[in-house]
Amino acid sequence: MKDFKQIIAEEIVKVTDIEKGKILENLEVPKDPSNGDYAFPCFLLAKELKKAPAMIANDLQVKILENLKTNNENTEIANVIAINGFLNFKLNKQKIAEEVIKKFDEQKENFGSQKQENPKNIVIDYSAPNIAKPFHIGHLRSTVIGGALYNIYKYLGYNTVGINHLGDYGTQFGKLIEGYKRWGTEYDIDENPIDQLTKIYIRINNLCKEDENVLNACRDNFKKLEDGDSYCVEIWHKFIDLSLKEFNKVYEILGSKFDSWNGESFYSDKMHEVIELLEKSGKLEESEGAKVVNLEEKDIPPCLIIKSNGSTTYATRDLAAILFRARTYDFDKALYVTSYEQALHFKQVFETAKYLGLDEKYTKGLKHVPFGMVLSKEGKMSTREGKIIKLENLLNEAISKSKAIIEEKNPSLENKEEVAKKVGVGAVIFNDLSNSRIKDEIFDWDTMLNFNGETGPYVQYICVRAKSVLEKAGYIPETTTVDSSKLNDEDSKKIISILYTFNQTLQNVTEKEEPSILARYLINLAEQFSSFYNNCHILCEDKQLQDARLYLTYMVKVVLEKGLNLLGIQVPDKM
Ligand code: ARG
Repeated sequence: MKDFKQIIAEEIVKVTDIEKGKILENLEVPKDPSNGDYAFPCFLLAKELKKAPAMIANDLQVKILENLKTNNENTEIANVIAINGFLNFKLNKQKIAEEVIKKFDEQKENFGSQKQENPKNIVIDYSAPNIAKPFHIGHLRSTVIGGALYNIYKYLGYNTVGINHLGDYGTQFGKLIEGYKRWGTEYDIDENPIDQLTKIYIRINNLCKEDENVLNACRDNFKKLEDGDSYCVEIWHKFIDLSLKEFNKVYEILGSKFDSWNGESFYSDKMHEVIELLEKSGKLEESEGAKVVNLEEKDIPPCLIIKSNGSTTYATRDLAAILFRARTYDFDKALYVTSYEQALHFKQVFETAKYLGLDEKYTKGLKHVPFGMVLSKEGKMSTREGKIIKLENLLNEAISKSKAIIEEKNPSLENKEEVAKKVGVGAVIFNDLSNSRIKDEIFDWDTMLNFNGETGPYVQYICVRAKSVLEKAGYIPETTTVDSSKLNDEDSKKIISILYTFNQTLQNVTEKEEPSILARYLINLAEQFSSFYNNCHILCEDKQLQDARLYLTYMVKVVLEKGLNLLGIQVPDKM
């Protein structure tokens, strides 16, 4: 698509000494769209020119308007206005409409996507629940945020690898094995694996506190597991299989996919290299019987590599994973999507990784993508008995609540079950993604299922409305019959501007690892379409007007549906 930002930058270059790259970097979209499509902040020039930004903006406005008039090129720029030290550019809406329609004709259902010549490699580590422990609401956030980033990077043409770094290793398995050995027959772990294993874990942990011998037996089990003892390995596998069966129910509902399921245990035979490399770097220090990497210089606590009892740690496995991922995927970026509670862990690991002798490319590409807590209206998310809510139940509750709403709003709808699934799950996902990820999220059914709020069901509903207009018309016009000059009402113009920035919006998501940028974009587009739908007759007497408006409707439908899909949400045909 013609890049209007480039065109604006060219005009600014003509009248200033700033490089084009810097101008492009600083061109922004004004908060109030009635001010213009792009704005250039003139305070950037204030120091050099020794003038107030407002004066600079006024001067530049005169010069650029003069140039546009005399050269008669770049007719894409309709006007330039100086406002409060900003140079605001209004684009020629008709030209944008032509560009958007042309691009749409080329890309159709893949509008906004990109193909890259030399795509960068992006590794995304997300979801990663722990074996024998509940798949909790924090893992849901990781799954949903990571999944959205994965889809968006892929759509933009990157080589993308999604990894589920399962928590399937560590000394706690020595304890679980001991508990299972002692009381396995008392618990029905096939029926309700996570609940039952959690109970066994609590019980054995208590016993360990009372009896040193039991604790030693647990340690011994973990040692045996590491050495490949067949009994211990067998029970451990059983824990993994049963837990995955339960986790997969959640993944099934969400539609989550991963390219790799290499969890922590995958690195059990790869940690010795980490230790050797750190020894070699001279950074591994003894500390009270343990081995640590001192990170005092960076003002962070030491990174524990080997505990005093000789076992490796969560951090050691993450370091081994960095080595493996650098070699296997040659990553340009490696993202880790977890709650902000792990910020220190990743700081320590990323600093320590600098001593593994890896190319700087890799250590620079490591990035923690933290997110906030999930809170209920009353505070922490838990049931009345203080037990952690089971995700599968939570998602099923979302589905049944949606079903009740649909039942009331549209009793004659077919496939209510299927629609309720898309709406209920979509509501939960959208709620998770619609605010900036670092903010704590409020989990409230009424808010997220409100068909008129800034919610998943609202965007789905507007998309379904666009679908039904197209269905009623019975055709999608050929672009050759679409006269974009017909789209000259305010609503259509606004929609065109929004569609024009779809690709840029997706790029912004990947720059900040922030799917909420896309979620907000979709709300904005849906609201704008709703206004268009109310103010303009789409199906009308004037065939040319109808074709133009129908094509606009088609584009909106594609972008809303694609945008939701990228967030991991499906759209029903009717609702
Ligand atoms: N299993 C961890 C947890 O539940 C998350 C793992 C995140 N990924 C990583 N490479 N450390 O908190």
